[in-house]
Amino acid sequence: MNFHTRKWIKPEDLNPNGTLFGGRLLEWIDEEAALYAIIQLENPRTVTKFMSEINFQSSAKKGDIIEIGIDIVGFGNTSLTLCCEVRNKMTREVIISIAKIIMVALDENGKPFAHGKTAKEFTKDRLAK
Ligand SMILES: CC(C)(COP(=O)(O)OP(=O)(O)OC[C@H]1O[C@@H](n2cnc3c(N)ncnc32)[C@H](O)[C@@H]1OP(=O)(O)O)[C@@H](O)C(=O)NCCC(=O)NCCS
Repeated sequence: MNFHTRKWIKPEDLNPNGTLFGGRLLEWIDEEAALYAIIQLENPRTVTKFMSEINFQSSAKKGDIIEIGIDIVGFGNTSLTLCCEVRNKMTREVIISIAKIIMVALDENGKPFAHGKTAKEFTKDRLAK
């Protein structure tokens, strides 16, 4: 799993309990999944269809640094299934892990689009072509 993104927990990211607000974390995860899927599928019209169980196992507090990891579970015809793990760099605890995030590639009419991808691609290999 690649942990591409780190976030620094700021006052505006907290819930009334003084810990990381779950909605903020889900926003970051959804954006990370979208960026990952758009780059892999080479289709900017890629949307979130489904997320499996959300279980906040631990949290973070102001000043903590967290990191968001995404990996590929599998390629479908129009979909790409990802998994995600978020870790607290300070406590080394897992904050959340999501087994399945289903992203769907769309065409210009907003209908599912067969993306034709079957394996993870790396930018350096694309540039070499
Ligand atoms: C994405 C959308 C076009 C899919 O429409 P749909 O009628 O479900 O399309 P399909 O049934 O053809 O499914 C498309 C793909 O999603 C997968 N899929 C659909 N529902 C799923 C579910 N509940 N769980 C897992 N995968 C699912 C299908 O297996 C299919 O994958 P494949 O082509 O790789 O086999 C439509 O649901 C939509 O526009 N949703 C809103 C998306 C959005 O706006 N997201 C942002 C957050 S609000």
